[in-house]
Amino acid sequence: MNLLSQLTRSFQQAFNARPSLICSPGRVNLIGEHTDYNEGFVLPAAIDKAIYLAVGPRSDNELHFVAHDLDKTYQGSLTDLKLTNSWADYLLGVVSEFQLAGHKLRGFNCVFGGTIPMGAGLSSSAALENGVGFALNELFGLGLDRLAMVKLSQRAENEFVGAKVGIMDMFASMMGKADHVIKLDCRSLDYTYAPLRMDGISLVLCDSRVKHSLVTSEYNTRRSECEAGVRFLQTFYPEIKSLRDVTMPMLDQHLRNTEPLIYRRCAYVVQENQRLLDGVEALEAGNIEAFGQLMYGSHEGLSHWYEVSCPELDILVEIARHHPGVLGARMMGGGFGGCTINLVREEALDDFTALITKQYKAQTGKDTYLHACKIQDGTNLIS
Ligand code: GLA
Repeated sequence: MNLLSQLTRSFQQAFNARPSLICSPGRVNLIGEHTDYNEGFVLPAAIDKAIYLAVGPRSDNELHFVAHDLDKTYQGSLTDLKLTNSWADYLLGVVSEFQLAGHKLRGFNCVFGGTIPMGAGLSSSAALENGVGFALNELFGLGLDRLAMVKLSQRAENEFVGAKVGIMDMFASMMGKADHVIKLDCRSLDYTYAPLRMDGISLVLCDSRVKHSLVTSEYNTRRSECEAGVRFLQTFYPEIKSLRDVTMPMLDQHLRNTEPLIYRRCAYVVQENQRLLDGVEALEAGNIEAFGQLMYGSHEGLSHWYEVSCPELDILVEIARHHPGVLGARMMGGGFGGCTINLVREEALDDFTALITKQYKAQTGKDTYLHACKIQDGTNLIS
């Protein structure tokens, strides 16, 4: 039985009603990493690995949730939303933010499960938050547009769960469009879709199967380092609001010699924004080879200047770089583990899979999992 049928059956058994079904995808990001919270650009897309939710309204104020994959349940009330330090917080956070924003809710039932590998950096939490927000909007006829739901998902993560992440993950999962990447300006939230012409090329994720505990603390440290750079430059250029307004000559003149660590962090972000703009031009010109080179540049910056990679991710990128069928590779997401994203020629896929599996094991003692993925539409109602 497929996952959707299992979720439907489990919902019917638990709640004796037919559910609405929602699909909410994970995301990849082609280039533009650690730029979202610096008001820069990102180039993500929603993928064909998703969280599926079976949902239905209740006549009381209760919340009944079933995490199908974990075989766990949660029961509570709309009027008593407390942090549980578990998966339930992603649902409760969304409920809480909807209520704080003044939306009238009733209780609801939800059974969910998914195909997004956990801990691989593919934003399963953003997918779940979006799925819940989308469900509330449908079930209670709230009339919210997608952007409003994205913002509430981000608030759930920032305020309720307490992770100070940027907007990229929720945006990509909610706004994705099949076969397109989203060029998102994280300052204005203006966005355009650029077609990703991938004829003969596969998007392959290599999971390092590493999840360093560093990720949250280092993520927050990087945010503060970028903010420190902005504050420092504001003494010379009061008009600067974020690293989006900063240029390399400004950094070279004022930070390079006095604050070398802050300089490296800020220089990475400024250069990554430029790489993204160059990358979009390359994609528009159909020059996927040039795009691939920019991905390697992004990895170099993330590894040496921003220092959010780890030996395992560096090894995955190095193995890929030496394979003639790979056009580009880099670590993806917050870093310190998770996946690399690779553009691989289809005819080289089998050989690449065999090589990277073998060499990664030899160099790290670990297995890597490869996921070929397709770019899909964002969060939507299935039935
Ligand atoms: C995580 C965060 C995003 C973004 C990336 C790095 O995935 O959730 O907001 O900052 O890291 O690009």
